Amino acid sequence: MIAVKVSARDQDSLRAANLLPVGTTPRKIESAPAEVTHPLAFGRYQSPLRYPGAKSGLTRVIGELLAAAQRSAQIKKIDLLVEAFAGGASTSLRLVGAGIVERTLLADADPMVAAFWQVAASRTQELIERIADEYTKYVAVGGDTALERWDYWRAWTAAPGIGRSTRDLEFATKCLFLNRTTFSGILHGQAGPIGGRAQTSEYGIGCRFNLNSLTKRLAYIGHLYDTGRIVDVWLSDWKSTLHGVASHYKTLLPDRVVAYLDPPYLSKSGKLYQRSFDVRAVEAGNDLDWVSARQHYDLAEYLREEMQYRWILSYDYNERLLTDGALYAAKAMRPTSSSRELKGVRSWRISKRIVTLNYSASSRTGRGPAQELLLTTLPPTTVPINERLQLCHMTEGV
Ligand SMILES: C[S@@+](CC[C@H](N)C(=O)[O-])C[C@H]1O[C@@H](n2cnc3c(N)ncnc32)[C@H](O)[C@@H]1O
Repeated sequence: MIAVKVSARDQDSLRAANLLPVGTTPRKIESAPAEVTHPLAFGRYQSPLRYPGAKSGLTRVIGELLAAAQRSAQIKKIDLLVEAFAGGASTSLRLVGAGIVERTLLADADPMVAAFWQVAASRTQELIERIADEYTKYVAVGGDTALERWDYWRAWTAAPGIGRSTRDLEFATKCLFLNRTTFSGILHGQAGPIGGRAQTSEYGIGCRFNLNSLTKRLAYIGHLYDTGRIVDVWLSDWKSTLHGVASHYKTLLPDRVVAYLDPPYLSKSGKLYQRSFDVRAVEAGNDLDWVSARQHYDLAEYLREEMQYRWILSYDYNERLLTDGALYAAKAMRPTSSSRELKGVRSWRISKRIVTLNYSASSRTGRGPAQELLLTTLPPTTVPINERLQLCHMTEGV
């Protein structure tokens, strides 16, 4: 067992940081997690959520990076992958299932999404029963009965004073119900029910609600939590997550933990997520108004100057990310002297690669081939250059 002692001061800082784990404190890490024996470990689809913006096409490439890094003398073994913008968590689920990383920690700032993962992991059977009930009473009946239930969940909010346990189970049910019955799995915003109000199409509201398969996927999440492979699920903002991991799992620093960061799209993500990083478009054009990109700059600054462990970052390709010194133009991290001295932050090189995802892999855009930017502080000599992972020629910071 790798001991993680949470002092009273740490608990206060947890509350102050707005970091809500499954239990009252972050879960300890078992030194040898149990074996993953669930048949879905190598299955094609593992996440119960069909997540808008999911980069499932990148998972293989990220797995390749992590596997190569672990063949190096510098890294040897990654004990924990931290997915700080978890969403549908497809990357973590696949990499843990395939044994590429030992464990994962999931975190998201959307309370409904985080509650879904917390309940799916720690109260799996309850959620399986709840969702079977929703299916039998509403979705399978279809028509107005299903639409009314869709409206009910769309409008549902946690009443003041509701206990955490009830609220989280309701949130988790709402999340999964809406995700499986709403156009493109969008949980917030304007998207309507699959099949529209008329429900005349061959693909009605229940066409993505396969109870049998959802039950198996939920059971897989429970199995990963029981075996210690999903260490914990946090409702928290990315900064609290990154900082929280450094303070609660200190023994893994700096090389046995890697963060995977997949922030919301640069533009229009406000239509998809409750919490987004939207950058305004320049009036009447597709260009972005970078002055409004504060959250992207904050993330970049933290990753360049304060991050105490290695990271992999994925973005929709945009040249500005590679040319702006306040984003990722730098060849290496530049910790401030205080973060270097007080926290031991290193000046790791930032390797940069372009990944072209083919049409089927980039279903998140549905616009044909999509280019992704992958940046990482994994040891540069281990970051592959091949057909899939191409150098960014416009910068020397590779
Ligand atoms: C692009 S999606 C991640 C998709 C994920 N990689 C997948 O494969 O499903 C971005 C996620 O970031 C979350 N998010 C938005 N703002 C956040 C913040 N400040 N801190 C943490 N998560 C945030 C959103 O709720 C959303 O789930």
